[in-house]
Amino acid sequence: MYNDKVLEAFANPKNVGEMENADGIGTIGNASCGDIMRIYIKVENNVIVDAKFKTFGCAAAIATASTATDMIIGKTIEEALTIKNADVVAFLGGLPPQKIHCSVLAEEAIQAAVEDYRSKQK
Ligand code: FES
Repeated sequence: MYNDKVLEAFANPKNVGEMENADGIGTIGNASCGDIMRIYIKVENNVIVDAKFKTFGCAAAIATASTATDMIIGKTIEEALTIKNADVVAFLGGLPPQKIHCSVLAEEAIQAAVEDYRSKQK
């Protein structure tokens, strides 16, 4: 069902866990399966210097969150917001069609974490 790259990202996910003193936290529920994704970001001078995730999602959600958090580390807030689930899926070499919705969790949780960060700056 999954390709080797997805299986590797699922078996050895990066950036798993909670983050103390996160600058932004985004929690998103997936309407189609009810699973949950939470992403934490640490921001310095408008750059995401660290990101972590926790999820109740499936293997595809874990693999895409691992990849997405890796992709946003070192990016500015604005650059991070341009990363879409399709970019993450492409990086992983594709997901089964019925698992594409799982990849949306990470994208939306990143957006929610950035919104949370921005609301705290006001
Ligand atoms: Fe719910 Fe994949 S089935 S996140």
